[in-house]
Amino acid sequence: MDMLKKLFSLEGKVVLVAGGAQGIGKIVAEHIAAVGANLVIFDRQGEKAQETADELAKEFACKAIAYGVDVTQPEQITSAIEKADAEMGKVDLLFNNAGIVLQKPVVDLEPDEWRKVIDVNLNGIFFVAQAFARYLMANDRKGAIVNTASMSGTIVNYPQRQASYNASKAGVVQLTKSLAVEWADQGIRVNSISPGYIFTELTSFVREDWRNLWEDLTPFKRMGKPEELASGVIYLLSDSASFTTGTDLIMDGGFTSV
Ligand SMILES: NC(=O)c1ccc[n+]([C@@H]2O[C@H](COP(=O)([O-])OP(=O)(O)OC[C@H]3O[C@@H](n4cnc5c(N)ncnc54)[C@H](O)[C@@H]3O)[C@@H](O)[C@H]2O)c1
Repeated sequence: MDMLKKLFSLEGKVVLVAGGAQGIGKIVAEHIAAVGANLVIFDRQGEKAQETADELAKEFACKAIAYGVDVTQPEQITSAIEKADAEMGKVDLLFNNAGIVLQKPVVDLEPDEWRKVIDVNLNGIFFVAQAFARYLMANDRKGAIVNTASMSGTIVNYPQRQASYNASKAGVVQLTKSLAVEWADQGIRVNSISPGYIFTELTSFVREDWRNLWEDLTPFKRMGKPEELASGVIYLLSDSASFTTGTDLIMDGGFTSV
């Protein structure tokens, strides 16, 4: 039992959470702090990220700092990782979670709308993972990364039309496997989580009839809660997953099994 507690602990680790100002990122960050880690939050919403960091630092008596970072801007990411290292002494682990969704039929989609979703959801995940791996390698350190994909990388959601989102998330799953293989000999593990429908700021504005249908299509007959993803992320970041890389953990209330 002690062995298990030790394996799942993130005691003494510094965890970078990208897209951590709200939603899944914020709630998972809370659980990461609860198992002993200090936090660095990156988010395009700089002020909100700072408020989240202050709130978590107070609640969990940990150190938590935040930077306003747009994950589509590689220079901003590199510079913020350098600043975080100077402030925290190190950064060990990454929960790479920023993402957006756009629901619009393909025939109506403007080129810039398609580009924006791919830019945040796929390029952003790539740029943050790349900068973090470069940082680890430059410091001769091992680490672990968990990327947030989605069940939309495996199935096509219905009735909403969101081809850009689905394609971006399928890209995250395959990128995760590619990085896992490429960095295995550097001691950097890379895995992804694929949530099903989770109730957050991202999904709270969606039409009620759609949300009702999503619940009906999910074998559990409900949407998931962000806290139901936390244990999966912590497992994949922790030493318990020391032989696990390139995997995609689908947490969807059974949706993709039907
Ligand atoms: N909610 C769901 O049902 C669900 C399901 C599967 C996957 N996901 C994925 O989980 C992740 C989190 O989603 P959520 O529901 O918490 O959404 P959310 O909108 O509540 O949170 C997303 C966070 O990412 C940040 N962000 C967006 N663009 C950014 C950028 N360019 N640079 C930096 N930060 C940026 C936002 O400011 C926000 O804080 C996303 O990748 C999303 O695609 C969500």
